[in-house]
Amino acid sequence: MSDSKENKSPRSSTSDNLQQLSLKEHYEVEKELGRGTYGKVVLARCRHTGTQVALKLLPKSSTKMRDFQREFQLSYFLSPHSNIIDTYNVAFETRSSFVFAQEHAPLGDLFDAIPPQLGMRESDAKNVVKQLASALEFMHSKHLVHRDIKPENVLVMAPDFSRVKLMDFGMTRKHGNMVRKTNGSIPYTPPEVCEAVRNESIYVSSSADVWALAVLLFCMLTGNFPWENADIGDMYFKEFVLWQRRKTTKLPSQWRRFTPRAMKFFRKALDVKPERRCEVREIHKYLSDAWTQKPRTNDSEEDSGSSASCDHMDELATMLQDHGIETRVDRRLRERRISEWLLSL
Ligand SMILES: Nc1ncnc2c1ncn2[C@@H]1O[C@H](COP(=O)(O)OP(=O)(O)OP(=O)(O)O)[C@@H](O)[C@H]1O
Ligand SMILES: [Mg+2]
Repeated sequence: MSDSKENKSPRSSTSDNLQQLSLKEHYEVEKELGRGTYGKVVLARCRHTGTQVALKLLPKSSTKMRDFQREFQLSYFLSPHSNIIDTYNVAFETRSSFVFAQEHAPLGDLFDAIPPQLGMRESDAKNVVKQLASALEFMHSKHLVHRDIKPENVLVMAPDFSRVKLMDFGMTRKHGNMVRKTNGSIPYTPPEVCEAVRNESIYVSSSADVWALAVLLFCMLTGNFPWENADIGDMYFKEFVLWQRRKTTKLPSQWRRFTPRAMKFFRKALDVKPERRCEVREIHKYLSDAWTQKPRTNDSEEDSGSSASCDHMDELATMLQDHGIETRVDRRLRERRISEWLLSL
């Protein structure tokens, strides 16, 4: 009886021996949902139960059984969190692939939800970052580091972003472990990993997720990357670091749309030194603040001055904010307060 049940629905969670199955015999593959560096994900219906699932297929030619088991077991273990994709107790191998099953996210991933060059609504970005922070806090509390935070690894479960889920635990490792650098750098890669050469040992730290989450937040709010590479040879990164280290008060232009409060968070989360970076939970302190300021209008009085003086005011506002002085008020009032503050010095 139990044998026939097992034949009906492929099952295996923590056993090291995988059932060898024919995919076609057990599933009707409906369409491809996506592809990544390591595998592909298809939408499939189990022929025996009628359940629709997302199957992640990792080719045996490029995947070690040990790596497959690690990804499947971590995904399964982290599933109870409401902002982490559900992984089912279903894993098996075919002739060419290792396979495990997850819940299907019909709205796809976050990458497609970010309008290029425009970004998402601030309220939507806040909703997303809050949920991702919760998923990461859960992982970090278990000493696990995701190590691949990017919009392609976030699934959208509701059109108003009231539910998003973190997925793809293929790179997840224990905080404190040493791993070899195998992948090239992407805009979400922190500087301490960017500077490592291929095959060099790198220290796994939850601070890497903080960095990537902050870069993802910038992307959500702007529709652009802040830089291509967190490397001093990248002009955009270099300009940010000069501001970040207070070598200049001039905020690079792509950051000027943000309020001083948002910049305060970015300064802490994007600290070049991983040991000085804030923790993921820091984001909660900023959720009730405005993060982006309204674009300047052409005909307003405040713009009749030079843009340099506006920039100067923004820099002063940032300094004030760093000293705990609230400057999130309309520009004229803010300028008056700044003048009063300067006079009082
Ligand atoms: N459960 C799902 N529901 C809907 N789409 C999914 C699901 N799982 C994955 N996808 C899509 O498939 C893509 C690739 O999946 P996944 O990130 O697991 O593969 P990967 O090879 O590990 O990727 P990476 O290049 O990030 O390492 C995702 O970016 C997403 O668009
Ligand atoms: Mg992925």
